[in-house]
Amino acid sequence: MTKILVAGATGTQGGAVVDHLLGGEYGTYDVYGLTRDANSERAQALAERGVTVVEGDLTDGERMAELCAGMDAVFCVTTFFEDGPAVETEQGITLADAASEAGVSHFVYSSVGGADRDTGLAHFESKYTVERHVADLGLPATIVRPVYFMQNLAYMHGEELRNGTLSMPLDEGVELGLVDADDIGRAVATAVADPERFVGQTFELGGDSLTLEAMADAVSTAMGTEIEPVHLDLDTYRDAAGNEMADMYAWFNAEGYDIDTESLRAEYGIETTDFASWLTASDAFRPAPAASR
Ligand SMILES: NC(=O)c1ccc[n+]([C@@H]2O[C@H](COP(=O)([O-])OP(=O)(O)OC[C@H]3O[C@@H](n4cnc5c(N)ncnc54)[C@H](OP(=O)(O)O)[C@@H]3O)[C@@H](O)[C@H]2O)c1
Repeated sequence: MTKILVAGATGTQGGAVVDHLLGGEYGTYDVYGLTRDANSERAQALAERGVTVVEGDLTDGERMAELCAGMDAVFCVTTFFEDGPAVETEQGITLADAASEAGVSHFVYSSVGGADRDTGLAHFESKYTVERHVADLGLPATIVRPVYFMQNLAYMHGEELRNGTLSMPLDEGVELGLVDADDIGRAVATAVADPERFVGQTFELGGDSLTLEAMADAVSTAMGTEIEPVHLDLDTYRDAAGNEMADMYAWFNAEGYDIDTESLRAEYGIETTDFASWLTASDAFRPAPAASR
């Protein structure tokens, strides 16, 4: 049975990877889920599903070396959210070094769409530095570059959607690449199941590209209430959300993600979810129940 260490197992991406590895569709796996706190509710829930929960910090080289020993595969996701982009790079490099030392035969890194396109965005460049380090090590690797999570709509815009608006600093006519985070799990499991095909491959992962109007229309249909698209002024957004997020939207407006669902399906056998299908399946966007009499 393939032994795999899954970083971020208690989070969105790693959680989706675990779901698909345990699902049976891609073979059977001995899944080790990395967390800093094995007693958290999420970690306990993983243990109940048969995941071996292991504690460790991604920046702890000695611990990562212990955990990588004997692994066939490693899924790596890094984050800048808590400690910034420099630490994010350190996380990825530490796990990649440990995997390389341990002779892991497949390292799958989840980076970000556009990481290689000279974005100048600190939390994209941090991931591209990890990608380049993985290449320099000669690790047998697959790089997945996900775009904007559809889940952000519920997570970051839930309250305003309930009040009837969807606001982003996206220009008119600009399409935003969207991915159902569950598809990251599907793509990673597809890659892990077929290293011969996927080692050496890099792809941008998404299931749809929509303008703000089209997103608002789709959410209106799903919720059964009118959602007004609001194009925020970038400088106003910058004051509220900070430079890094504002610069990311400036990049979305000028360049943007580049996904090709046809080639994901034809070249890699990876099925992706479009926004309307995701909305239909998501509990967050059901029509409000009729008021009781
Ligand atoms: N949101 C988007 O639209 C989007 C799009 C593309 C890429 N991304 C990228 O996705 C990444 C975040 O992934 P996510 O959303 O899956 O994360 P998440 O849901 O925020 O969860 C973070 C995970 O990382 C683990 N973690 C954090 N710091 C750690 C450390 N020092 N050592 C070990 N584990 C650590 C956490 O585990 P414990 O807390 O249990 O230890 C948790 O499992 C970011 O880099 C972001 O840039 C996001």
